[in-house]
Amino acid sequence: MIIAVDGSAASGKGTLAKRLASHFNLAHLDTGSLYRCLALDLLRSDHLPETIDETTAAASVNDLDLSMAGTAAIRTDAVAGMASIVAAMPAVRQNFLAFQRRFASEKTSHDGAILDGRDIGSVILPDADFKFFIDADLEERAARRTRELQDAGQSVMFRDVLEDMRDRDRRDRERSTAPLKAADGAMIIDTTGLNADGVFTAALRHIENHREQ
Ligand code: DC
Repeated sequence: MIIAVDGSAASGKGTLAKRLASHFNLAHLDTGSLYRCLALDLLRSDHLPETIDETTAAASVNDLDLSMAGTAAIRTDAVAGMASIVAAMPAVRQNFLAFQRRFASEKTSHDGAILDGRDIGSVILPDADFKFFIDADLEERAARRTRELQDAGQSVMFRDVLEDMRDRDRRDRERSTAPLKAADGAMIIDTTGLNADGVFTAALRHIENHREQ
């Protein structure tokens, strides 16, 4: 089974993807971590969000060290800001495309794969068996992200997180290459006011209803 989960920042898409992965024994790839690893790598090489160019960013994808993917170092606002800038560059997206498709089709001990991101159902895996689009009100997403960052020991303020998220949302939704939008056939879940259990239950019911047909 192949599942595509797309959605806005802090919408709950990652939590849903992890829970579905464990329920259905699927290999899970958080594709946002690819863009975040690239952003961290560029920031550490002293590139700035204001001046980073597409050729440099795209070239860095080819010898990118993905070992930072599971670490807290990629979960900062500075990294997220740089990630949303390089993610708008077509050559960068192109250089990540084959890696993501290979991950989804690799034969492993899993029973399939689940990828979460912004363009999984629309561009990376348009033939996925199930597609979800997860969204929530901006203010609620910013509150969730503020809590997450504070729990991780970062001193951030709600107002700043809200403004950064508004900017990133705009870049993700308005870019010309693979903008954030619900893919054809995606089940849309608005997670405003829902907890993780509620989101998981809705997604599971959708999958089970379709599998029965
Ligand atoms: O989901 P996230 O916050 O970790 O994503 C970081 C950035 O990467 C965000 O600005 C959107 C971008 N991204 C993307 O353009 N395409 C994806 N498939 C995943 C993330």
